[in-house]
Amino acid sequence: MAATLRAGLLSALALIAALAASYFDISFQNLNSDYNPLNWNYNGSRSHCRSIPGDADWPSVADWATLNATVGGSLIANVPIGAVCRHSYKLGDDTITTYDEEACDALRDNWFYSTTHIGSSSSPMAYPFTNNSCNPFVGPDAPCTVGYHSTYTVNVSRVSDIQSAVRFSKENNVRLVIRNSGHDYLGKSTGAHALSVWTHHLKSMQLIETYQSDSSDYQGPAIKMGAGIEVSEAYEFASSHNLMVVGGNCPNVAMAGGYTQGGGISLLSSKYGLAADQVLTWEVVLASGELVTASPTENPDLFWALRGGGGGTFGIVVSMTAKAFPDTFFSSANLIVANNGENTDDIFSAVGTYLKSLPSLVDAGAWVVSVWAPIGFMVLPALMPGMHPAELDAYLAPTRAKLDELGLEYQYSSVEHVNFLAASRAMAVAYNVSDYHAGGRLVPRELVQDDASIESLVGAIRHIGSNGFMAGVAFNVAHAVDSPDDVAVNPHFRKSLFNAAVGLPIDYSDDNYTANNKATQDKLTYDLLPALDAIMPEGSGGAYLSETDFQDPNFKSNFYGGHYNRLLEIKQKYDPDDLFYAKTAVGSDRWEQKLDGRLCMV
Ligand SMILES: Cc1cc2nc3c(=O)[nH]c(=O)nc-3n(C[C@H](O)[C@H](O)[C@H](O)COP(=O)(O)OP(=O)(O)OC[C@H]3O[C@@H](n4cnc5c(N)ncnc54)[C@H](O)[C@@H]3O)c2cc1C
Ligand SMILES: *[C@@H]1O[C@H](CO)[C@@H](O)[C@H](O)[C@H]1NC(C)=O
Ligand SMILES: *[C@@H]1O[C@H](CO)[C@@H](O)[C@H](O)[C@H]1NC(C)=O
Ligand SMILES: *[C@@H]1O[C@H](CO)[C@@H](O)[C@H](O)[C@H]1NC(C)=O
Ligand SMILES: *[C@@H]1O[C@H](CO)[C@@H](O)[C@H](O)[C@H]1NC(C)=O
Ligand SMILES: *[C@@H]1O[C@H](CO)[C@@H](O)[C@H](O)[C@H]1NC(C)=O
Repeated sequence: MAATLRAGLLSALALIAALAASYFDISFQNLNSDYNPLNWNYNGSRSHCRSIPGDADWPSVADWATLNATVGGSLIANVPIGAVCRHSYKLGDDTITTYDEEACDALRDNWFYSTTHIGSSSSPMAYPFTNNSCNPFVGPDAPCTVGYHSTYTVNVSRVSDIQSAVRFSKENNVRLVIRNSGHDYLGKSTGAHALSVWTHHLKSMQLIETYQSDSSDYQGPAIKMGAGIEVSEAYEFASSHNLMVVGGNCPNVAMAGGYTQGGGISLLSSKYGLAADQVLTWEVVLASGELVTASPTENPDLFWALRGGGGGTFGIVVSMTAKAFPDTFFSSANLIVANNGENTDDIFSAVGTYLKSLPSLVDAGAWVVSVWAPIGFMVLPALMPGMHPAELDAYLAPTRAKLDELGLEYQYSSVEHVNFLAASRAMAVAYNVSDYHAGGRLVPRELVQDDASIESLVGAIRHIGSNGFMAGVAFNVAHAVDSPDDVAVNPHFRKSLFNAAVGLPIDYSDDNYTANNKATQDKLTYDLLPALDAIMPEGSGGAYLSETDFQDPNFKSNFYGGHYNRLLEIKQKYDPDDLFYAKTAVGSDRWEQKLDGRLCMV
């Protein structure tokens, strides 16, 4: 009875809304006779923008209720998670009480962990992309607004939920964003005044014992994963079948999300390649709302683009099927050299020896993380598949001999792990994710091939490492593909020795928040990253689009290399109206977000 009444009320509201909408359309058309809000390629004198709340054509409460009904009640009106640290929050026309001292304390204690944000329908781990709208570290009287968090989220559990959201945003000219784990360092999974499609709860997983397809010569085990499957979930599932899959280091990044779609550096990359190299097929909802398969034979151009051309750009991935490999044992080694303020020259002399030995490590199959920071130089860790610790030790012996020769104190240890799951768990420290502005560059192998190049590389690392935090994740993915053009992944990867991720701390203090943090990001863009660019041999370098600087003035060539133009053609074919927008994504320079959060064509 109540349900019938409610449904009746909803459809009555929807009708009123539809009438109101057509009224506005008509009056709008009288003012701008050539303006059609459904024509997203509008090319007239009036610059074209997405709607924001308060606009005449922003969907009414009834429109949202209609959408909610079509997505099984899974529509969420977002409240920033920091609202528990405020007295109240204005949600639509209502003011809701949000303050909860205990919850606020817990939020502050756990703010920097990814697990604090992953269950949220709107909180990006990269805090600056909220526009500091609900800072958890300031008092309960300060304002809290939605800022650049998405306004609404569809908590997807079925393909039809995605299709409904796609149709709704097109029909209503509402910005759409795709959110999964929310890890993106470049803020690509949040958007001001947007409807967010949240694929985190698509958790299916299926073993294919022997993958066979006319479209591929691969015959072996594979795993089909729902878009929301996290790295640790995939590792556990694979391990239960004595298999391993190519995934990242952070346990809760989404395998089929921005991780694989952006390339995907893995603990297994030196052995098998990037995550994008392993994909056999995708299921994708297109901007048209159609569900399609992308494989070497069906929509092969889309298949190519999704393998490294960037998340949030070409369609909404529902599932991915990727190769799996027989499990094996691993060994890992850690090396720590502390900087005491007086041994910096010696440390960087040893770093030179270490860099020279890196190619031999990655060529033998290792994934190696180096850290350079004011506190010192660390290898945390070098992880080698199918090798015992004594063998791994030999690869690091030249570095240790150099440290001994220089009389530097250091800690070194190496251990064996019975299988991939054990190794990955030992690697996964509880990362802080919301504390750094990010930047990055791919460092080519060429830079360690002669002493003069090594010296210039050490100089750049020293400049960066004394100003901030720099991590180098080393791999060899040259052999994983027949040609760098087989997949969309930035071709610079195939010549790279490591991905240098550079970080400078986010300042959460509310005084001068914007100016301070802008200055910090600018330091990355205009000082630290150019120190690496300055030493790059002609035609090399570039950046890993998932771990770099969102302000990069050369993002097209740096993030996509020679693949940009082909990706742009594929973008235009599958998403001609730019339904999918994310800053630095292919085609994104046609749009600009204004300070009030409105997204407009430039
Ligand atoms: C702590 C930490 C550790 C990391 N470790 C690694 C690592 O070891 N190796 C590595 O390569 N990278 C690593 N990354 C980077 C990571 O790959 C990127 O942040 C990546 O964008 C995360 O993808 P996501 O889908 O989980 O995140 P989200 O932030 O939810 O999404 C990222 C992008 O992908 C898009 N997207 C998400 N889901 C879908 C979907 N279903 N369909 C279409 N588009 C989608 C979003 O729109 C957005 O553009 C790490 C990041 C962090 C913060
Ligand atoms: C917009 O339309 C005009 C007239 O049709 C055309 O000359 C112009 O090239 C178009 N601009 C863009 C950016 O498409
Ligand atoms: C959507 O519907 C569900 C179930 O009726 C309700 O709990 C939820 O608040 C609704 N969402 C919005 C944004 O109104
Ligand atoms: C973003 O922050 C700026 C600076 O504080 C402010 O002027 C602007 O209104 C904010 N926009 C939104 C949508 O929160
Ligand atoms: C999203 O939906 C899942 C079920 O698919 C549910 O378990 C989860 O609690 C929902 N999250 C929110 C924030 O509503
Ligand atoms: C993570 O953040 C917490 C809280 O600010 C801090 O105490 C801790 O030292 C940080 N850990 C690392 C590894 O930076």
